[in-house]
Amino acid sequence: MAINTVVFDAYGTLYDIQSVAAVTDAAFPGHGDMITQVWRMKQLEYTWLRSLMRRYEDFETVTRQSLIYTLRILGLRYEEALLDRIMDKYVHLDLYPDALPALNHLQGRQLAILSNGSPAMLNTLVRNTGLDRLLDKTISVDARRIFKPSPEAYSLIESELGAKPAEVLFISSNPWDAIGAKAFGLNVAWIERVTQEAMAAACDSTAVVPPLTMFKAMRTQMDELGLAPDHRIRGLSELAGLLPSRP
Ligand code: LAC
Repeated sequence: MAINTVVFDAYGTLYDIQSVAAVTDAAFPGHGDMITQVWRMKQLEYTWLRSLMRRYEDFETVTRQSLIYTLRILGLRYEEALLDRIMDKYVHLDLYPDALPALNHLQGRQLAILSNGSPAMLNTLVRNTGLDRLLDKTISVDARRIFKPSPEAYSLIESELGAKPAEVLFISSNPWDAIGAKAFGLNVAWIERVTQEAMAAACDSTAVVPPLTMFKAMRTQMDELGLAPDHRIRGLSELAGLLPSRP
């Protein structure tokens, strides 16, 4: 395939969203897992609701409001400064260990992020983690004031990078994002970070299902929406098998 441009989702794909758990648990000992999972689920839900209602607010607002929701339902009290401290992790998220090697391997092609994140959040995160040296562009859906998986969001790839959908490989671990990109017409590699077997094994228990397992069941398994990604990979390192390095 003549792929000249590789575009990555950010949160959950290059950056490990679960890395906020250390911060949420330090802020509210014993509640870290529940906060982390409800927060991320609500954050995504709010992007879809706001897009459907045509009531766009940027991802920083959505992320803060979903965190406030989460702390409220758990009956946890907080000061504004604590909220800021938790939110700050969003500009210092951990990269997946295979992110830097994959981006290095892919040099020679046009490389970019297309994310729901606000421009300020994304640019700071990318700079803080050194990805600004490896990426040609960081694109926020903010320019279209609608979130993925709206086609208008994916259309930014062509307008910002000048790449036709057929020349682009889009990579996401988020099933809804992989399917959205496929519906738009991009070539898509979906990262199956949790295999079906591991998922079933985690649920095959009479014990109480922990929040992380529930999150995995809701947000890491391929959806039934009548579309499928072109490639299923287990991690970013497998991109080397799809796209040979260029001199
Ligand atoms: C992203 C999130 C929503 O767009 O995964 O980066």
